[in-house]
Amino acid sequence: MAGKSGNRLKRFLIPVSGGLAGLVVLGALQISEHASAAPPKQPEGTDIAAGQRLYAEYCASCHGANLEGQENWQIANEDGIFPAPPHDRSGHTWHHGDALLFTYTKLGGKGAMAAQGLDFESGMPEFGETLSDQQIWEILAYIKSTWDDRVREMQAVRTEAEQLRGN
Ligand code: HEC
Repeated sequence: MAGKSGNRLKRFLIPVSGGLAGLVVLGALQISEHASAAPPKQPEGTDIAAGQRLYAEYCASCHGANLEGQENWQIANEDGIFPAPPHDRSGHTWHHGDALLFTYTKLGGKGAMAAQGLDFESGMPEFGETLSDQQIWEILAYIKSTWDDRVREMQAVRTEAEQLRGN
């Protein structure tokens, strides 16, 4: 009797433990896939002074020497293209998390929207060929350094939401 039920138990346990091992492997795969696809996020200790110099060279001509943006930036021209928005608190840069700001700068407005499956004409050029990822983060760190704590905190919340959503 004991032998019989022992065998039954064995037959039952083998497929279950195989299945469990399979589940564990699947789970690990999902975790590592998720980690590699994590949205980009501002690295710690980025060089703000370098970002300020790069901003003056590459961004100020459109977004303004004092991050004030172009005049009437909320109004599109006849081609449907918007002027450059301010990066200070009067604009909407801080409404976006790090991943969006980084991608918009790296791929340009058209490229960033295309990555979301949207067809959009944009006056924001792509900088992925001109600037390294590190330099883009430096510029973004400089822009953030000009904000007050409250705006910086609100933007950080958007970044956390992006990380949780995974995009
Ligand atoms: C030729 C003009 C031009 C230059 C130079 C330029 N931008 Fe822009 N940028 C724009 C325009 C126009 C938009 C408006 C968004 C749109 O319509 O796609 C924009 C939008 C953005 C946005 C997203 C929108 C937002 O809410 O702020 C970011 C981020 C940005 N620019 C960063 C930069 C950075 C960083 C640089 C310098 C490396 C730069 N831009 C240089 C024209 C420019």
